[in-house]
Amino acid sequence: MQLLAYPRETAGLDGIWQAIPDQYEIYKNYFEDFAGEDVTVPKIYEPDSSRGSDRPTDFNITDGRSVRIPASWGEELPEFRHFEGWVWYATQFDRSLGADDGRTFLRFGAVNYRAEVWLNGERVGTHEGGFTPFSFEVTDLLEAGRNDLVVLADNNRYEDGIPNEATDWFNFGGINRSVELVNVPDTFVRNFKVETTLSDGHVDIDVTAWIDGDPDGTVTVEIPALSVATDLAADGGSRFHDQVSLADSDVDLWHPAEPTLYTVRVRHGDDTISDQVGFREVTIDGSDVVVNGERVWLRGVSLHEEADGKGRALDSEAVRERFDWLNELGCNYARLAHYPHTEEMARLADEEGILLWEEVPAYWDIDFGDEGVRELYRQQLRELVQRDWNRASVVLWSIANETDHTDATRNEVLPEMAEYVRDLDSTRLVTAACFVDERADGLVLDDPLSAHLDVAGINEYYGWYYGDATDMEQFQEQSDGTPIVVSEMGAGAKWGNHGSEDDRWTEEYQARIYREQIDAIADNDQIAGLSPWILFDFRAPFRQNEYQRGYNRKGIIDQHGRKKQAFDLLRRFYRSGEVPQS
Ligand code: GCU
Repeated sequence: MQLLAYPRETAGLDGIWQAIPDQYEIYKNYFEDFAGEDVTVPKIYEPDSSRGSDRPTDFNITDGRSVRIPASWGEELPEFRHFEGWVWYATQFDRSLGADDGRTFLRFGAVNYRAEVWLNGERVGTHEGGFTPFSFEVTDLLEAGRNDLVVLADNNRYEDGIPNEATDWFNFGGINRSVELVNVPDTFVRNFKVETTLSDGHVDIDVTAWIDGDPDGTVTVEIPALSVATDLAADGGSRFHDQVSLADSDVDLWHPAEPTLYTVRVRHGDDTISDQVGFREVTIDGSDVVVNGERVWLRGVSLHEEADGKGRALDSEAVRERFDWLNELGCNYARLAHYPHTEEMARLADEEGILLWEEVPAYWDIDFGDEGVRELYRQQLRELVQRDWNRASVVLWSIANETDHTDATRNEVLPEMAEYVRDLDSTRLVTAACFVDERADGLVLDDPLSAHLDVAGINEYYGWYYGDATDMEQFQEQSDGTPIVVSEMGAGAKWGNHGSEDDRWTEEYQARIYREQIDAIADNDQIAGLSPWILFDFRAPFRQNEYQRGYNRKGIIDQHGRKKQAFDLLRRFYRSGEVPQS
């Protein structure tokens, strides 16, 4: 179970750390062959391993390159921008940051891609997956005075990885999100989940809490603003649950137009944890996405997690900037592609009233046939869902992007993953970004997976990679069919490059594609929303032509924040609801 830490007072370990690139991946077993009776070979992760050594040790873990954490190493060490491999990080912290009594957990917001961790020379554990939090208990490893923390970050791309070697985004390596010590009592509330359902004038709120340690006595939940205080009943092991049912007239439901949040507090013994939670219900009705019983057309855009000079390590200023752009566009929805973005995005979306599509990077040709890959897949889904399941803004869990729907193994595994997500969280919609098929009678979604999805995303590039933008006029329209979100459409344009609407790579061409696509889909009853590809230009290694130079140029804003014509066009559509004319 994910350790819920965000609402807790934690001891931050961010700041200046030491970093040593290990291009040949030799330091872990450094000169091990020389080890012998009277020859000790320093271990890079052992404190003092390189200090005062009378040997010419080829690394000094406490005197590496000084880098800020969190950060993508290529932004801190420009000569390592295109480096893929191992980097050793080290920092020291004082024992006083740990719990005096009780327990201490070491938590990482995200390390791309694999992480191996040592504390005071003891191996603490490993984690795979570059975009979700993980934590280790270190209570018994803490030492008086200085404590030495060493992290090996490995951003090699692996065939059996998720994602694997091939992606259309930049592989920012490093400790990309915060590191902290989480101090808690011996028995504490490890996580809790709030689920809302609406029924006959009532708002039913289910609260489930997971107690870590030796649960003894009551677990209570309070919602002070609604005068709710109730004890949860044990329902097996560390789980406690109860449901409170309130008159809907007493509750201000969370809605994009009115993103009301309530403090929900869970207590057990000496431990109390509270979080800001919105009560809302998201369902589908025919081809519509429905929030609190009201149809909502998803006016959105897709975005990567990246910022100029910050790589993948977004700070609150960058997060704020993204919501300023979304609000300026008139969005009520955003697709966070293709991996879990920082938790800050969902928390600000809760406040801003932006509905979110969140996704795990099961992208393109993942090796679904491999049991190890499937286990990693479930782990990444679990880590994301258990991190953000109290975020009212999050309404869509996406299990995959552009995977091959003619692949039998894929068609077996992905429905299983859809069910796995529903077991974790039955209150949100499960989706995936699929391809469109061409039939004699038009364009269709003919992916067997769609039968297992609540909402189906379609990625289509009519007018750019193939066909004409107007071809989407022939897209199927089954008004009671599975709601369809156009999860990607778009065209490349270099900011400031101008010409006629038929000149590729110009702003005019991109704007025309937006106009014609919007015109083609806006009135299609089965289409419940849109998130064009993409809000801003982003680094993409295989994009190297004279307009791209290492960037995917489908942004409606370039990487420096300069808007292209399509930005205004989309804004006019979202703000007026009218299809913009030429
Ligand atoms: C795909 C893919 C994106 C990619 C985009 C593009 O649809 O999902 O990750 O960047 O197409 O080609 O620009």
